[in-house]
Amino acid sequence: MSAPSMTLYHNSLSPFVRKVMVLLHETGQQDRVALQDCVLTPVSPDSTLIDDNPLSKIPALHLADGTIIHDSRVILDYLDQQHVGNPLIPREGSARWRRLTLASLADGIMDASVMVRYELVLRAPEKHWDEWLDAQRDKIRRALALLEKDAIAELTSHFDVAAISVACALGYVDLRHPDLQWRDTNPQLAAWYFEVSQRPSMLATMPKV
Ligand code: BEZ
Repeated sequence: MSAPSMTLYHNSLSPFVRKVMVLLHETGQQDRVALQDCVLTPVSPDSTLIDDNPLSKIPALHLADGTIIHDSRVILDYLDQQHVGNPLIPREGSARWRRLTLASLADGIMDASVMVRYELVLRAPEKHWDEWLDAQRDKIRRALALLEKDAIAELTSHFDVAAISVACALGYVDLRHPDLQWRDTNPQLAAWYFEVSQRPSMLATMPKV
């Protein structure tokens, strides 16, 4: 086994980082990447990371030639072009736009979930903006309802960029927002998630609290 040629700015709690880690496992590339752990919030940037990404956002990937790439979508696209197996992001045609749109929906669930988390833990309770919190939670509920209604067969068909993204989004909702009780209203999505949670790539990338 050769030394890792790339470095990933990493935090196991980030669902955006987890997507990258799951894709690395699914494509057999995990040994190519060293992990640089970061502790950060929107109001406390990571001092090492900001040299490579002034936005102080993870994931960011430092390539062997010194190039830095981010965000998670760009990194997934890059890594998916670095292995010889079946692509996890369709290269062309309607499948490409559909799978990326499902992945975008999952990213939106992650965005809303992470923002709710930050509002609740970083701001004093008397400053919480309840209407904004409710609006974010509504986004999550609507997105999950759409997946339940329209996407179960598609998610079941391939564990690709769409399925990886949805699985990581659900993992984060479970981690930080169990109060949403999303399984009660989305039983098919719950059954699908139960299955994919057993994949080695998902087990190996469980958030470490
Ligand atoms: C979290 O602790 O929920 C978290 C940590 C890093 C990135 C995103 C979320």
